[in-house]
Amino acid sequence: MQNIELNNGMFIPPICYGTCAIGQWQQDDDYVVETILTAIKAGYRHFDTASLYGNERSLGKAIKASGIAREEFFIVTKLWDTQQGFQQTLQACEESLVRLQMDYVDLYLIHWPVPQKTQATWQAMEQLHEQGKIRALGLSNFRESDITQLLSFANIKPVYNQLELHPYLTQEALCQFCNEQDIIVSCWSPLGTGTWNEVPVNEKPIADPTIVALAKKYNVSAGQIILKWDIQQGRIVMPKAESEINMRNNLALDHFELDEQELASINRLNKNHRYGGDPDTTYADNMAIDVPA
Ligand SMILES: NC(=O)c1ccc[n+]([C@@H]2O[C@H](COP(=O)([O-])OP(=O)(O)OC[C@H]3O[C@@H](n4cnc5c(N)ncnc54)[C@H](OP(=O)(O)O)[C@@H]3O)[C@@H](O)[C@H]2O)c1
Repeated sequence: MQNIELNNGMFIPPICYGTCAIGQWQQDDDYVVETILTAIKAGYRHFDTASLYGNERSLGKAIKASGIAREEFFIVTKLWDTQQGFQQTLQACEESLVRLQMDYVDLYLIHWPVPQKTQATWQAMEQLHEQGKIRALGLSNFRESDITQLLSFANIKPVYNQLELHPYLTQEALCQFCNEQDIIVSCWSPLGTGTWNEVPVNEKPIADPTIVALAKKYNVSAGQIILKWDIQQGRIVMPKAESEINMRNNLALDHFELDEQELASINRLNKNHRYGGDPDTTYADNMAIDVPA
């Protein structure tokens, strides 16, 4: 699959391996290292983690143990809400780099918007970029108003915005706005959410009759249909999969193509349904959660 060009000239693999809650929430041990090594062997080179996920150490160990050069990977991590602010951001990034055993990350994201802190946080990220510790700067869960605020002072433009996005939450207006600003959309919980959220499988979009019928037609899994729907619209996807079969399937999207009507039929499944937090309301809850040491 072809890499996507970002607005700073860097290229990013469109299929990322999501690492949140491999095993259990914030698990950081040999099981996580082995799972990530299996993903690397399956072909993943783009990995998404966060200081909050508590597993940056395992990701760093797996990258080292793979024997593959660091430059072959695209590594994304995130700054948690409690870590925002100028000095706090500088410190948080250093701590992430130590846990990852890396000199730089390819992309550093603000995990959630905290508008009163965005300017100071972004200025620290620009400094980290100048020092070579961050190759690209990005956003997660930013609304149109948050992006507009950021663009009013940013010297470096964000390359992408990572959003909860799946067939039950298509975020069309926000995607349109990001496209107009040359900011790529990246989809978290692309299949509708992981086991960290106890949603029964039959309530997720992978069980939706429209998706299941398309999976049958193309002889692929329901997950592959959803990921292909994203990829064909220029979005990045980051499914998390612990089972090797899912890992491999999620990378195998080149041998079929959805037509315009099929893409539209998936767009119509939108219910504006969030499985995860809402940037309008989640701030207090997020501030109550600390990043593990
Ligand atoms: N920025 C943010 O605020 C934010 C928030 C949440 C998540 N994220 C990122 O998004 C990533 C993915 O999110 P997520 O883990 O919540 O949800 P997800 O990737 O949508 O769903 C993961 C679940 O789907 C299953 N699965 C994987 N591939 C499948 C397939 N082809 N067919 C059917 N089922 C499949 C997995 O099973 P198995 O594991 O058993 O294979 C797992 O139970 C996270 O790891 C994280 O990197 C970001």
